[in-house]
Amino acid sequence: MYKIAVIPGDGIGKEVMEATLHILDASKIEFEYTFADAGDEYAEKTGIPLPTETVEIVKKSQACLFGAAGETAADVIVKLRRELDLYVNLRPVKSYPGTKCIFDDLDFVIVRENTEGLYSGLEEYTEDGATAVRVITNKASERICRFAFEYAEKTSRKSVTAVHKANVLKKTDGIFKDNFYKVAADFEKIETDDKYVDATAMFFITKPYMFDVIVTTNLFGDILSDEGAGLVGGLGLIPSANIGENHGLFEPVHGSAPKLAGKGVANPAAMILSAVLMLEYLNETEEARKLEKALITVLSEGKVVTKDLGGSSSTMEMAAEVRSKFIE
Ligand code: NAI
Ligand code: MG
Repeated sequence: MYKIAVIPGDGIGKEVMEATLHILDASKIEFEYTFADAGDEYAEKTGIPLPTETVEIVKKSQACLFGAAGETAADVIVKLRRELDLYVNLRPVKSYPGTKCIFDDLDFVIVRENTEGLYSGLEEYTEDGATAVRVITNKASERICRFAFEYAEKTSRKSVTAVHKANVLKKTDGIFKDNFYKVAADFEKIETDDKYVDATAMFFITKPYMFDVIVTTNLFGDILSDEGAGLVGGLGLIPSANIGENHGLFEPVHGSAPKLAGKGVANPAAMILSAVLMLEYLNETEEARKLEKALITVLSEGKVVTKDLGGSSSTMEMAAEVRSKFIE
């Protein structure tokens, strides 16, 4: 029995969450859900986008499923990441059948450092413009690289590539790169490599199959993970994990999509795949693969899928189809 905090949030967040829980309910694993409020709707009622009770509920749970917030997203998700010290942002770049992916059979993962780098919030006006401080510490570099190698080991990946720009950012990325190779020494079976970020951006387009696990700093990871999303097509399909020492929060990359909200047409796949990442995090690897496989079957059959995938089914019809494959 796992204690899971559930934050449906706003708009289609609520719909894709309902769809995903309907599927998880068919799992042989038992989950005890605690629903928690956050987002625009809650803020309209109370003036507070992220109540402290919600943070407490997440802290007391073993994992959190998050749908999407609307305009308050920064106050909700960014704050949750900080409060829970979720230092890892994990984004799979995986192509699925029946989708508008640019490359078939692509399957790699980006591990982005989520707490420092150029997003440390240290910006200042100067006489003629402004400066931003890029903070890179040994502690954060070590733990993100260690996470990447442990993740590679756990998911039977062969290689980890550090992405940096140490030829120009000699000190900050020098520290990052040094920590990468220091950690690598503890994982002899995993191949290691490092690449410049600009070259990596090109290889995503020309030779994306060369990557397995990528580990990188905050800004580079932000940009590369959206480039990765472009390779495998469609916001309705991209999940993410935010992971720290004691907590894990799993959410689709998309937002509340107000234009689609309330119509029952949102694609639940990104939320379902976020649940797959949660199952992996909970070491329920077999169940994770089973759920992913059920979704893959529905996507490749292409019969009961939402409009963005070329079908005409509703969110809940697609969820019911995935559920039926999941329990087969
Ligand atoms: P969005 O991701 O909500 O939607 C952009 C477009 O992508 C939609 O109009 C739709 O065409 C498509 N789309 C997204 N998810 C889909 C799905 N599951 N199925 C089918 N199509 C889908 O991004 P947008 O429009 O920039 O932002 C809308 C609101 O969401 C804003 O208030 C924004 O602040 C918030 N947001 C929240 C995030 C979060 O909670 N983590 C992340 C991104 C945006
Ligand atoms: Mg981004």
